[in-house]
Formats: sequence, C-alpha cells, structure tokens
Amino acid sequence: MDAVPASRRVFVDSPNVRYEDDQIIADYRYSANEVTKRPNGVVHVKPVEKRLQIRTNRKVNRLGLMMVGWGGNNGSTLTAAIEAHRQGITWKTRQGLRKPNWLGSLTQASTVQIGLDTTDGSPVYVPFKDLLPTVDPKDIIIDGWDISSADLNESVRRAAVLDVGLQDQLEPYLKFCKPKPSVYKEKFIALNQMGRADNLIEASDQKVLDQIREDIRQMKSKADTVVVVWTANTECLCPVLEGVHDTADNLLAAIANGHEDVSPSALFAVASILEKVPFINGSPQNTFVPGVRELAQREKSWIAGDDFKTGQTRMKSVLVDFLVSCGIKPVAIASYNHLGNNDGKNLSSHQQFLAKKASKTNVIDDAVLSNDILYEPGEKVDHTVIIEYLPYLGDSKRAMDEYTSEIMFGGTNTIVMHNVCEDSLLAAPVILDLAILTELATRISFRSVDVKDSEFQPFTTELSILSYMFKAPIIQEGGHVVNALNKQRASILNIVRACLGLAPEHHMDLETKIP
Ligand code: NAI
Repeated sequence: MDAVPASRRVFVDSPNVRYEDDQIIADYRYSANEVTKRPNGVVHVKPVEKRLQIRTNRKVNRLGLMMVGWGGNNGSTLTAAIEAHRQGITWKTRQGLRKPNWLGSLTQASTVQIGLDTTDGSPVYVPFKDLLPTVDPKDIIIDGWDISSADLNESVRRAAVLDVGLQDQLEPYLKFCKPKPSVYKEKFIALNQMGRADNLIEASDQKVLDQIREDIRQMKSKADTVVVVWTANTECLCPVLEGVHDTADNLLAAIANGHEDVSPSALFAVASILEKVPFINGSPQNTFVPGVRELAQREKSWIAGDDFKTGQTRMKSVLVDFLVSCGIKPVAIASYNHLGNNDGKNLSSHQQFLAKKASKTNVIDDAVLSNDILYEPGEKVDHTVIIEYLPYLGDSKRAMDEYTSEIMFGGTNTIVMHNVCEDSLLAAPVILDLAILTELATRISFRSVDVKDSEFQPFTTELSILSYMFKAPIIQEGGHVVNALNKQRASILNIVRACLGLAPEHHMDLETKIP
C-alpha cells in the first residue's frame, strides 16, 4: 500500500470544511469578547462572533530561501542540515552512528493534540506538519549573500558547530555554494567584522538595491515563493531621521541619494518589499523604520521580525509568564551570557550590544502588564542583561539567569538557571520554521461572511503569526505584542486548526469531567 502523504494523514470530517482539489475551505465562527471598562469599575464583557471563511491553497509552492549572512553560523548550519537530510548522510561520533534530525523545529518535530481516541479516550497527537500541506525541508532551494567570500564548506568548518565526519561528507555539496556579494557599512556592524568583509558590492546604495533585487529575481525564476531572512550580524540601532527614515518616499529618495544612515538591513528589506517577497529580520536592530513599514504596506508585501527567539529569551518568555500567571511576582532578573562565536564577537562592541539588550529586555513586558494585582501601573522589574565574548567557547553559549520573585508574606523565591547549548543548533530549526510557516501563510486567506460580497484577503503586512519565533515581535498598528511563548504557539496552532474548521484547543476535556 502506498504511504499516505503527510498533508493527507489528518482528515476532518465536518460540514464546516470542504476539501477541494486545490484548496481547503473552512467555515469558521471566530469568537471574541468586546470589553468596556466602565467608570464605576465594572468590566463589561460582550461575547461577539464573526463568521469567516478561510481558504488554504493546497499546492505547496517551491520555496526559495535567501539568507543574508548565509556564511555565518546560523546560515551555514541550516544549509548543512538541509543538505544532510537531502543526501541521507549518516556519520560516526564517539557516541555512535548519527543521522540528521530536526529537533527544535515546531513544524518538523512537534505534535498537536487533535482530540481523544474513540476507542479508549486517550489523547491523540499528530505531527504539526500533518495538519496542512507544508514545504518539505529537503525541497527548499537555498541561496544568499555574505560579506565574507568563504564558500559554505569553508563556512561550516569555520563555524565548528557540526561533527567533522559530517562536515567531510558535506564538502562535495557545500563547496559549490558561494554567497553573493553584499554591502558593508562600517557604521552599522562592529569594526571587528572588517577582517571578513572581502565579498562586497562596491557601489552606490541605489546600485546595491538594484543588485539585490536582481539577485532575488534570479531566485524567483527557480522558486514560486521566495523568502529573504536577515541572519547577518546585529547592526547598531539606526537613528530614525526625519526626511530619511520617516516615510517610504523619503527612504527611497535617501537610497537614491546615497544617505549614509540607510542601514544594509534596510536595503535588503526595501529590495525584498519592492520584489514583493517576504522579508524576515532575525536580528534585533530596528530595520523596520517607519519608511520600511510604510513601503511594505503600500506594496502589500510581508515583513516579520525582530530577533530570533531561541535560547535564554525563549526560556524567559515561558518562565515569567508562568510565574506571573501563578500569582508570583518576579521583581529582579539578571541574565548573563558568554559565548565565543562570531555573533558574540560582534556583540562585544557596545553599540551592537545595545540593540541586543533592548530586544532581550522587553520580552517580559506583556506578562507584567497582564497582572495589575502584582504590578502598579508603570512598575518595572529590575532587569539586566550582560553579554561577554569568550572566544574559546565557540558556538557553545552559556546563559546564566537569576529570577527573584516575591511570594506570600514577604518571602522571596529565587530561581537560578544555567543553560549551555550550541547557539546555531537552536537557531537553525527556528529559521527553517520561519521559512516554512511564511510559505504556508502566503497560501491562507480569509473572507468575512457577514460582509456582503467580501473578497478573500491574505494576512496583513506584519506577519505576527510568526511571533513565536521572535524576541521582539513586530505587529500591525493597533495590535498588541504577545511575548509569552505558549500563547504565541497557541496562536499558530489555533489558526492552523481554524483552517480545518476546528475550534481552538481548549484543554477542557469535559468528556472526562462530567457525567
Ligand atoms: P555569525 O556572525 O556567525 O554570522 C553572521 C554572518 O553575517 C557572517 O557570516 C557575516 O560575514 C555576515 N554579514 C554581516 N553583515 C552582512 C551584510 N551586510 N550582508 C551580508 N552578510 C553580512 O552570526 P550567527 O551566529 O549566524 O547569528 C546571526 C544573527 O542572528 C546575529 O545577528 C545574531 O544576533 C542573530 N541571532 C542569533 C541567534 C542564535 O541563537 N544563534 C538567536 C537570535 C538572534
């Protein structure tokens, strides 16, 4: 018997969902609560329901992933991982034979509870990737840019993340992967990066922009959907200047005039937007200045960011949410990091560190704002973040955190954590998920059944469905930032469930609680 393809392993039998050859159409009732805080202190809650139709295109697009900073630790590790899967490479280590896997990937290695088994009432879990059709990582076409000319074989060896037995077998495939030249502006990344900048487009900003657009167009000729991800070094924060960064037209004029304050990451964002391909910012700098955001809105192109959420901050966005939702009051958090990779070297420069510090610090804001029993309006948690560069450690990052919380009757509870891991082995699956989920998001559209003749509309410009993967998620104007990891995960899963006409996961299990 032929194996059932992943995207057909879950079938929803409901009058609310229609599987057609090329699309899945779900009728969905979106329930929300409209809340008014009355002057007398009463919180008035009015449940409302919107009737939606959600359409998911079933044909998975051929995905082209272009990474800025391709030859860095993240970019080279992800490329090697995809190639290792593609070639079915196995390698020997002291612990035995290893084969490739995608541990750490939401789309490839996590499961979703879909319901209870009719025979014995036990929960049934299915792989995330079996719910809707998604790209197989082995089919992703990879390309990218780097200011360093090292090919991907050299990059993988320079990163020293993967076992040598794997590196050796990958060499025949990776040595032909050569990053396209990019733009280096001393003002934006640390001066200590200058030594590797030997692969540059030496031209005006306008010509750089045109070249990047041309590079993207080349990828478009091979792939149906192209996603550009910034996984290059963290830039310093860019001063948002009136007349330069404030509007789309001013930014385009500033590029045409070669204004020195347009960052390389903004050039890549603008090129992607003008080519109407999603642009994702995996570093903390403020690439999305108002002019970039306006341009993205105007061109109806997608953007997402900022700063991949992978290790210490991911843990923080779980732990603080957990403490605050228990009614325990975190009051002081100290986070130390030391690491020895090139990211750490770049962050040893103060201006670039400041960008990282800001995105690492804000991650607890939503938890604090959620509980006015614990926190007075405007009250802040004492929160410090320190990053040190220790070259010997390479990609192995050490994160040490101390969380001090107030508990009952003047007690304190201090939790200390020590986290050691290869940074890029956490980041690579996150970049993979971003690419796969972005491609999926481009195939989903919504229409309101309550509005006569309404047309199907895609997600709005800021793809905040991807917030799970970012330390400082950008959201559409008027929205609210969610940092808590479990809420972010629920958001992705419940939207995917809605595409199949399924209610959000409620964990009520009334089947086992009432007669
Ligand atoms: P890396 O330093 O190994 O790689 C960055 C690459 O970008 C280098 O190869 C560099 O030559 C290249 N580069 C710098 N400026 C460029 C430009 N203008 N155009 C093209 N290439 C350029 O760093 P790694 O570890 O790969 O991290 C990449 C980024 O991801 C950093 O900004 C880091 O802060 C961010 N990040 C990493 C996380 C992780 O867990 N590894 C988590 C969150 C964010």
